[in-house]
Amino acid sequence: MVSSKPFKDHPQSLTKKFLPWTFYILLPLAILHLYFYPLNFPLSPSDQLPLHNPIIIETSSSPSSSSKEEERASVEITCDYTNGKWVHDKLGPLYNGTSCSTIKDGQNCMSHGRPDMGYLHWRWKPNQCQLPRFEPKTFLQMVRNKHLAFVGDSMARNQLESLLCMLATVSPPDLVYHDGGDNKFRRWHFPSHNVNVSIYWSPFLVKGFEKSGSRNYNELYLDSVDERWASDMDQMDMIVLSVGHWFLHPAVYFDGDSVMGCHFCPGQNYTEVGFYDVFRKAIKTTLKGIFERKGAISRASGREINIIVATFSPHHFEGQWDKFGACPRTRPYKKGEKELEGMDLDMRNIEVEEVEAVKGNSEQLEGLRLVALDITKLSLMRPDGHPGPYMYAFPFANGIAERVQNDCVHWCLPGPVDTWNEILLDVMKRWDSREAQSR
Ligand SMILES: *[C@@H]1O[C@H](CO)[C@@H](O)[C@H](O)[C@H]1NC(C)=O
Ligand SMILES: *[C@@H]1O[C@H](CO)[C@@H](O)[C@H](O)[C@H]1NC(C)=O
Ligand SMILES: *[C@@H]1O[C@H](CO)[C@@H](O)[C@H](O)[C@H]1NC(C)=O
Repeated sequence: MVSSKPFKDHPQSLTKKFLPWTFYILLPLAILHLYFYPLNFPLSPSDQLPLHNPIIIETSSSPSSSSKEEERASVEITCDYTNGKWVHDKLGPLYNGTSCSTIKDGQNCMSHGRPDMGYLHWRWKPNQCQLPRFEPKTFLQMVRNKHLAFVGDSMARNQLESLLCMLATVSPPDLVYHDGGDNKFRRWHFPSHNVNVSIYWSPFLVKGFEKSGSRNYNELYLDSVDERWASDMDQMDMIVLSVGHWFLHPAVYFDGDSVMGCHFCPGQNYTEVGFYDVFRKAIKTTLKGIFERKGAISRASGREINIIVATFSPHHFEGQWDKFGACPRTRPYKKGEKELEGMDLDMRNIEVEEVEAVKGNSEQLEGLRLVALDITKLSLMRPDGHPGPYMYAFPFANGIAERVQNDCVHWCLPGPVDTWNEILLDVMKRWDSREAQSR
């Protein structure tokens, strides 16, 4: 890159200022590359985002308030999944790269020749509770006759595909819908339990136009929910929202008809406003939109609706994204070895805060349950979980090339994302046991 000379006189202050800036420019470029130029995936180009594990907010419609304190005392209603450590797990995953047919190619590290297997043998141990292994049968029973929708970007897809693989070990799903071109909208049906599981591509959750043609920036309309998924909301019983990385990309932001600013838009006469406030506004608009519409539905039908906000999934680019060794680690970080900080922390906090803000307004929550799946920290501790060069099959078949594209953003399947779904199931079980108690 640049010679280090210019910084010689003020090595500390200048590099400190300069680094975050280059980082925010380079990382999106690398990620853009992953999203827009994935080379040879045959059938399923969608991706998912990651979830979070902690419990942030929970509300149920009508527990008798008098016994609430007693319930809390007698049963552990919640578990803080946020803090803990990765411990060795002899058993390993429920599925593998050949037994599950719905893994997106770029995340099928096993069948792409990733040689080390150690990353498959870790389980998350929260500090104060146990996280049981995923039980596909229990999950299916709990969502019997329901529709579970994953909404978001490629991290939502990453999580959806993990769930599909685990559920398929007990009950094969049928793909009942996919939009012709790029599979961004898909639905599976599990006949055994009459369950629908679907994925909706919506990388901003709010209305947006992704860059295309000569417009090399995204356009976001921060005051409107994206109808590509929201128009189906009345058919959804459980919604997992998972976004984040797309907000780093160059974009122009609208509020109503007027431009409120942009991010990384040199040459345009708009104010640079960064992406944090925009991200917050998008989450706010989304939750508000859900509560307005679903609140009415649930009041009319008495049906519970569950909203899960998966927090930001960290990447682990350590070297240059197109060089050998971009995310080379093969073990999780140990407890205390890696702190959650910077953009990962800020993005996660925004999501958690917005969930809490809604929770604080109990009127909005009637008939709805909301939780932040706080997976940011536990995922941060898994630098070993990404495809890296194995996003393509056998990348080193002819030796190590000068340029090797790496994916240090998405996660191998099987892999750490399976844990997000373990937490999802555990949250659902705690919801149920609380309700059983309040009956
Ligand atoms: C994958 O799982 C299948 C079915 O459980 C098993 O027969 C096969 O040996 C596994 N393959 C690998 C590479 O672990
Ligand atoms: C599943 O989706 C189909 C349409 O694809 C719909 O007819 C059916 O009612 C849905 N079932 C549930 C439980 O949501
Ligand atoms: C940029 O916007 C400002 C304020 O809206 C305006 O005064 C200025 O003329 C604009 N410059 C260009 C080159 O359009």
